[in-house]
Amino acid sequence: MWNRKHLLDIDSFSRKDIEDLLKLAEKLEPFSGIDKTKKHKPLCVCNGQIMTLWFEPGKENSTRTFGSFPAAMIRLGGNYKVFDESTSSMTKGENLEDTTRILSGHSDVIVDRHRDPNHVNVVASVSSVPVINAGNGSAQHPTQTLLDIYTIKKRFSRIDGLNVAVVGDLKYGRTVHSLAKGLEKFDASITGISPEGLEMPEEFKTGTYDGKTIDMENIGAVLKELEPDVIYATRIQQERIPGNTDGCAYTIDKKVLSLLPEHAIIMHPLPRISEISREIDSDPRSVYFQQASYGVPVRMAILCMLLGHEVE
Ligand code: NCD
Repeated sequence: MWNRKHLLDIDSFSRKDIEDLLKLAEKLEPFSGIDKTKKHKPLCVCNGQIMTLWFEPGKENSTRTFGSFPAAMIRLGGNYKVFDESTSSMTKGENLEDTTRILSGHSDVIVDRHRDPNHVNVVASVSSVPVINAGNGSAQHPTQTLLDIYTIKKRFSRIDGLNVAVVGDLKYGRTVHSLAKGLEKFDASITGISPEGLEMPEEFKTGTYDGKTIDMENIGAVLKELEPDVIYATRIQQERIPGNTDGCAYTIDKKVLSLLPEHAIIMHPLPRISEISREIDSDPRSVYFQQASYGVPVRMAILCMLLGHEVE
């Protein structure tokens, strides 16, 4: 069990906290319904419990995180509700703290995604129930990192010693920020590959971090030389970038794939725009849809850990 109330960032996690989570997710996976070839038994660990989803309307749209948290809660036998600021008393001027006090009274756990990186911290400071950061602006996305690490572990049976290349918008992409912090707990090396101006901010450059600023047209040659075990592609965060992003786009296609080691896997938090050509979707090394599906068992495990449920 984790000795913490909230899940706000990945920095405060120990390696053991992450390993405990991975073990629990593995145990819960057969109950998550992600394997469509198998029947799964329903669980009732969270019977009668309510999760509130608090996603900033319009600004922080989501398909995977917004969808997999309710799926996880329902698979655990619990329920969820969506809080919509635009139809709430916040429109009458009610402040964030009072709103949180009321919402936590109606819930057992709150899942928060906002453009303001500090929103989740304010919510956690007054909430009477656990608060989960589901993406705070361009800062971090810790639950994505846990499912990313789960995906890597499933494929390689280890994290230690792996060579991970993170590619794309490393400045505004929150998934790579928390991934760098998460991989730091393991003995993995991380190389950032980005266009000029979208490099990893200093605060997320961990001990083993090595950054390469490149002309994105050369992505194949750069990856070939690096021989990474994992390629973690990300989209250019257009909505967060002031000014134009000409020259930032890149595509991993069959040609690039042919330059990579046979065992290397391609990950992406999704949504992809043009970073990964659809022509490689059916390649066994393309694991991004599998990765997205692990959002359910991993978030089931997160909910159990924070709500204090032991699973036999
Ligand atoms: C990411 C996010 O919202 O940060 N998506 C996700 O949660 N899987 C990635 C992105 O939007 O680029």
